[in-house]
Amino acid sequence: MMYKIQAFNEWNNEEADGLFVGLFEDDKKWSEGLKELDVALNGMLKKLLKEKHFTGKLNNIFSFHTLEKLKAKKVYIVGVGKETDGQDEQLRSAFAQLGKTIQRDQLQHVAVLLDSFVKEEKDEAHCSFLLSEAIELTSYKVADYKEKDNRVEKRLESVTVFTTALEQPLLEELQAGKVYGNGTNLARTLVNTPGNLMTPTDLAESAKDIADRHGMEIEILEREDMEKLGMGALLAVAQGSEQPPKMIVIKYQGKKEWKDVLAFVGKGLTFDSGGISIKPRENMHEMKMDMGGAAAVLGAMDIIGQMKPETNVLAVIPSSENLLNGQAMKPGDVITTMSGKTIEVRNTDAEGRLILADGVTYAKHLGASYLVDVATLTGAVIIALGEYTTGAITNNEEFMEKLLYSAYESGEWVWRLPSFEPYRKMLKTSDVADLNNSPGRPAGSITAGLFVGEFAGNTPWIHLDIAGTAWSSKGTETGPKGGTGAMARTLAALAEQFDPNE
Ligand code: BES
Ligand code: MN
Ligand code: ZN
Repeated sequence: MMYKIQAFNEWNNEEADGLFVGLFEDDKKWSEGLKELDVALNGMLKKLLKEKHFTGKLNNIFSFHTLEKLKAKKVYIVGVGKETDGQDEQLRSAFAQLGKTIQRDQLQHVAVLLDSFVKEEKDEAHCSFLLSEAIELTSYKVADYKEKDNRVEKRLESVTVFTTALEQPLLEELQAGKVYGNGTNLARTLVNTPGNLMTPTDLAESAKDIADRHGMEIEILEREDMEKLGMGALLAVAQGSEQPPKMIVIKYQGKKEWKDVLAFVGKGLTFDSGGISIKPRENMHEMKMDMGGAAAVLGAMDIIGQMKPETNVLAVIPSSENLLNGQAMKPGDVITTMSGKTIEVRNTDAEGRLILADGVTYAKHLGASYLVDVATLTGAVIIALGEYTTGAITNNEEFMEKLLYSAYESGEWVWRLPSFEPYRKMLKTSDVADLNNSPGRPAGSITAGLFVGEFAGNTPWIHLDIAGTAWSSKGTETGPKGGTGAMARTLAALAEQFDPNE
């Protein structure tokens, strides 16, 4: 798929399957694009608008065949909503509609009158980013394993952007948006892949592909390495499965020296049955998505590898299955983590925090100065925040502010959960070990997060619980039902915007 930029006045010299124009609601001052289009159509738009055939309402698209009056076969007028402050959010929605329409009508050559989507104070470059990101995200399809039918899908081949703005910065932003969308789609695919085809070994292979593609250093620890390093928590979770666990590490060095390292630790549970504390059978199949944190981290690394920010980034992914056999860990077992802290396993289904404990410790061992762990950690966060918002906990206000900003810029919703002292005390309720991995249902997402925080210690740390956001049960504005790629963009944006001295 290719992007082209053309001078605005060329808009009717280009053949296209669809020409997209933005319209704001209650718009008194039409964009040049609309005006010229209206002239070319002998005043038809004005008339239709007057008769309220379309209003510019957000998420409405009005389309018609041009019957050879224009070079483009069809015109699509995309409602952008009222001209208000929350414009990024509006444009994201409008472009998502645009992208979905391209897919629905199987358009191959598309033209966009970019300036019609931009109100004065917004720059076209940023708008281009949102456009190409949305086109990429909405083009995503979940792979299936059905016997193939012979239908040939027409794929989008070119998007020509008509604008009065300068070409170079626009091309860069179009490219960047595509990279962000693509990295998110990669994360979605990792999540959607069935557990038998996405084992810890497969996940490590995917990580290797990404690292190789961008020339990043990669290290994969095997069981014997974990034994030497004393990763008792990851090993305990893995001991109930035939699949060997992996500790996946990717290094992206954006600075001359390996310092001020921003580390992402992603939960890579490729299937979570609950273990001996087994889960109910309904919907257990969805637990293939329990590596959503790992997927977000890998998606972000794919973006980072192309955007090349001047930040040192470390990705650490502890990966395992949580199954049950004769060797599986049991409730009541006491395990010793790499940090030396001991844990009493009260519930084998609280396995994410166990593997993350060793993941966080290993990240620190490799020089992490800032930690973000990302995990599909608790059902409780779904009860609290639903599917739309990621739950966050931190030990460092300034670091949190930075991440919240990156999330906002990325159009992903993150909300903080409290972390007052009594919650931490709830973790210290084992008679036999330093920590209890399952202190009970109250504040389940908070205690789970703070459990991981115990291993971060004084290193600035943020925990992101994506149990709700990693998987969409009905589909989202930009994507189908299934893996969403949540937090890939936020992490990548954080790496791009990160300045430890700020
Ligand atoms: N992977 C699950 C959390 C989860 C639940 C993710 C639903 C996505 C959708 C996690 O390992 C888990 O089982 N958590 C337990 C913790 C409890 C035993 C303390 C939970 O949330 O019930
Ligand atoms: Mn579990
Ligand atoms: Zn889990």
